[in-house]
Amino acid sequence: MTGTRRYLTTPIYYASGDPHIGHAYTTILADVLARFWRQDGADVFFLTGTDEHGQKIFEEASRRGMTPRELCDQMAARFRAAWEDLDISFDRFIRTTEPEHVAVVTAFLQRLWDKGVIYEGIYRGWYCVPEERYWTEKDLGPDRTCPVCSRPTREIEEKNYFFRMSDCRDRLIDHIRGNPDWIWPDVRRNEVLGFLDQDLEDLSISRPKARVPWGITLPWDDEHVAYVWVDALINYVTASGTIHPDNPPSRRGFDNTSGSWWPADVHLIGKDILTTHAVYWPTLLMGAGLPLPRAIVAHGWWLTGDHKMSKSMGNVVDPLELVGRFGTDAVRWYLAREMPTGQDASFTPERFLARYEELANVLGNLVSRTLGMTDKYRKGRIPEARGAGLDRDVKATLAAVRTAVEGYRLNEALGAAMDLARRANGYVEQREPWAHAKDPARAADLDETLATLARTLATLAALFQPVCPSKMRELAARLGLAEVPTLDQAGKIGLGGNTTRKGELLFPRADLLPDQSDGSTA
Ligand code: MSP
Repeated sequence: MTGTRRYLTTPIYYASGDPHIGHAYTTILADVLARFWRQDGADVFFLTGTDEHGQKIFEEASRRGMTPRELCDQMAARFRAAWEDLDISFDRFIRTTEPEHVAVVTAFLQRLWDKGVIYEGIYRGWYCVPEERYWTEKDLGPDRTCPVCSRPTREIEEKNYFFRMSDCRDRLIDHIRGNPDWIWPDVRRNEVLGFLDQDLEDLSISRPKARVPWGITLPWDDEHVAYVWVDALINYVTASGTIHPDNPPSRRGFDNTSGSWWPADVHLIGKDILTTHAVYWPTLLMGAGLPLPRAIVAHGWWLTGDHKMSKSMGNVVDPLELVGRFGTDAVRWYLAREMPTGQDASFTPERFLARYEELANVLGNLVSRTLGMTDKYRKGRIPEARGAGLDRDVKATLAAVRTAVEGYRLNEALGAAMDLARRANGYVEQREPWAHAKDPARAADLDETLATLARTLATLAALFQPVCPSKMRELAARLGLAEVPTLDQAGKIGLGGNTTRKGELLFPRADLLPDQSDGSTA
């Protein structure tokens, strides 16, 4: 992958509430992918940020007695701080209230207007503020509730500007059919194709300022602002550097994306925002004459019981509380390992503990016994032996991990890495180095065992690095390595002669960890 450029995005999160496990999951998954790619030699641009305009933010700010800007500043800072605590290696944190983004949205909309794909009309329908979505009568739930969140909708009749999305339907269907990997997984691709089976309506892209004053003013009508979803989706182009607002219009790169990061390689999203990403966004790009993103990857939901975890359901878990007790790497590991990418999973304290114990008892145990024996039997020096005892397993694991990562099955990739640690523990049992240590005639066998374990740990440091970056830096240092090896180096690295450091347990047993004040486990 050396030399490849990869542009990866998360959704930008609404600045109306604090980050929760759902947001953390998407962001961690993206981070694990970004770190795998970087470690494999790719030049990665990883974007995240906050979605700061629209009615939802406006109403939340007034509920709290703040200005929208004050609320956004506070929430953007909280998201940034949460991502720092979770060791997220984003390259850019975008806020849709930034002047650069406002300029790009304005230029994008002007472009649509100039191309004649926008017209003025009257919108009649029902609006759900929490979802920031219009619904037609036929979509509504009982008592005209929102079909997504079941909350009451508001009836609305007003002047809007519309984008001729219906004209793009056939082209979009052709694109999806012609690019089977464009929407992942298949179940989501079929969902979008099913949606496109019906007539595609035109998309309302504006709101009257009289109703929604908090947004980006349309370049041709200053009584109206851009619909928040249109504004938000364009963030992916803003951050790519495709359109430099400081340049005169003639030099803005709408038709020339060379040098910019556009098109994105992967838009990582939750399945709740599939239509906006797989229908609205590509058709808007078609309208503006920009290339489409290369893939849309939709993951499932964290559930509490049968319900999606969400702020409005009042059932959210605060990721930072878990970090306080188990550490960042353990939270990252649980979220990325537990949920099969693309499917739903239930968040339970029992499963969290079970996954934590895997880290402590399988990987952690392998680390402490290897370093402990190297210390005890060889005075902390890794023997100069081939250390090839697990070479076949290492090679097979590296291949399995690479394939799983390319297919976005990160949980499988991490499972394969843990299986290698399990096999290495089995190798220790089978070789019985403690018996060899008592018999000088078996010194070479002992050397081979310890060298094999050290080399396997170096590979494990590489494989676990994307999910447990700080613990793996620590592991590499204890193996006498200046850095965590890359995937390419992993199977080949020789550690003979390195000085090791035993240190404390890498993942302390859960019962040794500080308890939470309420005594619960997670
Ligand atoms: N602002 C829009 C996105 C605009 S992108 C151009 C938005 N924001 S959000 O704050 O509601 O975040 C939605 C995203 O958070 C979901 O797509 C998903 O990635 C993540 N999750 C929120 N709740 C979740 C779960 N319970 N489980 C997993 N992920 C979820 O929509």
